[in-house]
Amino acid sequence: MSDTELYIVCTDRDGEVHTLPALEGWRIMEIIRDNGLPIKAECGGALECATCHVYVAESWLDRLVPKSDEEDEKLDEAFLVKRTSRLSCQILMRDDLNGLEVTLAPETD
Ligand code: FES
Repeated sequence: MSDTELYIVCTDRDGEVHTLPALEGWRIMEIIRDNGLPIKAECGGALECATCHVYVAESWLDRLVPKSDEEDEKLDEAFLVKRTSRLSCQILMRDDLNGLEVTLAPETD
């Protein structure tokens, strides 16, 4: 077991900030969902739904693995896409992402 306790910081749609325990190798979507925050993630991470849309804090953007073409295309189906938008099922937790800050994007319905 690692000595480092990994976590991410997630702001929900009411503006409430949550510190969520995270495990290396988990998808950011799974960390958000399994900690009980409302993220639909309908396809379970198969890059087929875009309902795991989050905004990544500007200061963290460069540290993420760049979007694949497939993620970019799927993001087009999301609501209110911004430059900082990512699909959270496509970001895997790593040590150097400890403290990653994301905000849940609005839902379409
Ligand atoms: S959970 Fe469906 S695209 Fe991420």
